[in-house]
Amino acid sequence: GTVLVLNGPNLGRLGSREPDVYGSLDFAGLVRLCEEAAAALGLRADVRQTDDEAELVGWLHEAADRALPVVLNPAAFTHYSYALRDAAAQRTAPLIEVHISNPYARESFRHTSVVGAVATGTIAGFGTDSYLLALRALAGSARS
Ligand code: DQA
Repeated sequence: GTVLVLNGPNLGRLGSREPDVYGSLDFAGLVRLCEEAAAALGLRADVRQTDDEAELVGWLHEAADRALPVVLNPAAFTHYSYALRDAAAQRTAPLIEVHISNPYARESFRHTSVVGAVATGTIAGFGTDSYLLALRALAGSARS
């Protein structure tokens, strides 16, 4: 089945954006990594990125309507977007929150996730491997 891999603001700039924090892989590389990992797990990854809160909310509505599992990196929206949280709460399939960095080891404003409580689970701090671990978790939950 299809998995939506949804990415919030500034993640399109991976590779050049604070590489000490987010690594050197660019967004196109992340897309390829997710597509390949999903295929190996028998899934199809539909990887998207937007800087626009409304667009991200719309994608979560689509996931809810189509009962699609979601890997979500809400980026900065993690920390303050109740609109995104309310959209994620409508999920009809598992939703894994992911972060490349470990937000708990960073500035205090990153220590709160308003999305975490409505996610199935959260994977953070493993670089872009966080996405691969999330895809594995979804593949496991689809089997059980
Ligand atoms: C992030 C962590 C957020 O705090 C930050 O705003 C991001 C990326 C991560 O993947 O580590 O944009 O979600």
